[in-house]
This record gives sequence, C-alpha cells and structure tokens, in this order.
Amino acid sequence: MLRVLEGKDYNDMSRIAANMIFAQITLQPGCVLGLATGSTPIGTYNHLVECYKKGDLDFSQVTSVNLDEYRGLNGTNDQSYRYFMNEHLFHHVNIKPENTHVPDGTNPDAVKECGRYDQLIETLGGVDLQLLGLGNNGHIGFNEPDDNFEKGTHCVNLTESTIKANSRFFSSMEEVPTQAYTMGIGNILQAKKILLIVSGTAKADIVRETFTGPITPRVPASILQLHKDVILVGDKAALSKL
Ligand code: F6R
Repeated sequence: MLRVLEGKDYNDMSRIAANMIFAQITLQPGCVLGLATGSTPIGTYNHLVECYKKGDLDFSQVTSVNLDEYRGLNGTNDQSYRYFMNEHLFHHVNIKPENTHVPDGTNPDAVKECGRYDQLIETLGGVDLQLLGLGNNGHIGFNEPDDNFEKGTHCVNLTESTIKANSRFFSSMEEVPTQAYTMGIGNILQAKKILLIVSGTAKADIVRETFTGPITPRVPASILQLHKDVILVGDKAALSKL
C-alpha cells in the first residue's frame, strides 16, 4: 500500500520524513534503520540531529545498515558513503559506531563482502524502516535500469557517465571508483516499511512512472508498487505529476 505525504518545499518534506523516522525510533528504540546517501536525505538527517540535540530522540539502541558504498574507497575518503553518513548523521547523534553498517568498500572480494552484508541484514532480523532516494532514471540504491532485478547485495559496474560525473571530485581519473556494492531489490523489498523521499521538479516524471507505470526492471523503483507499506514523502514539485 502506498501512502503519499506532501510537504510544501524541501525543508517541509525533510521535516515530515524526519518525523516518520522519529516515530519509528520512539515506538521501537532498538529498530534497524536502512539508510541512504545522496542530496535528498541531507535535510532529513539535519532534522533528526536537531531532535537529538533537543533531547527528544535517543539513538543508543538503534542499528543502521546503509544501502551502498563505492568499491575501493576507504571510510576516511570524503567521497565514500561511510564518510557522508558520519558527517551528516552518525557523528552528531548517540548511535553506537559499532551499530552503524555500510558495505565495506575496501574489501576487494566482492562475493565475500556482498555475502557478508546479506548475512548481516539477516542476523539483525531485517530492516524495520528503509529510507530511499530515487534516481532520475528510477534507480534505488545502485540498482540501475536493467533486464532483470538483482535480489541480494551485489557489485555493480558504474556507467561511463557516472564515472565521468564523479571524476570532478577526485584528483585523478584513476582514483574514481568504477564499481560499487549495493543492496539488491530483494533486500529492499524485505524491509518492513519503506520511506521514499523525493524533491524538486526534476523528479516529477520518474515519481509518476515509478508508481503509475508498469512494474519493470527498466524502472527499478517501480517494484515498490508490490510492497505493502510504502510512504512516499515529497515536496509539491516532485509530486506534481502524480
Ligand atoms: C544513495 C543511493 C541513491 C540515491 C539516488 C538519489 O545511497 O543509493 O540511489 O538515493 O541516486 O540521489 P539524490 O538524493 O542525490 O537525488
């Protein structure tokens, strides 16, 4: 089932999304949160940090598992998703560092690392609330449009255009990651609740396609139509074509 919540702008959308996560942690202090990086969740994380600083929110029993990480990047590299999470959330709240999980980009053995991550999620009892952003092409995590859906955590080759786009953040082309580890569509669908956040006019078409178009691996997020508990939180602009 899909529920749609509209905020008037990015900040309002972020406040609503943070309230959903706030409610999850309040009702289930030991919950497992699935987390995302990217530009969309930054406002949500800022709101959560504010709630924590006011003394309204306690992360001490929370566990987190992130969707994805660049292969080859260490957590101290400022382009890594581990670094992003530390900067935007983990270092500002009382989540225990050992309870925060991101795929280990430094493990060169893709099969081992992806297997370890799937096992970890299972051992934790699955994800209670999965936060997701939406790519302009319908990707979720690093699950790009393809001929089929990948179930478990896997290693993906980044597209030429993504590698080029990312190269501006690195001092040389050799340093730009060409691969990433990502949770699969199966991992994402197994989350008990999904919170998809979208912002801006640029996402309006793909939001409509995701929820009103055919379910196809060509639009990976369209599979969310089959999940029984999806909350879509967006600003007016992103929801304008739904
Ligand atoms: C991030 C991730 C990506 C982003 C997506 C949207 O961990 O897995 O799928 O959620 O690319 O990114 P933004 O929010 O920057 O539009």
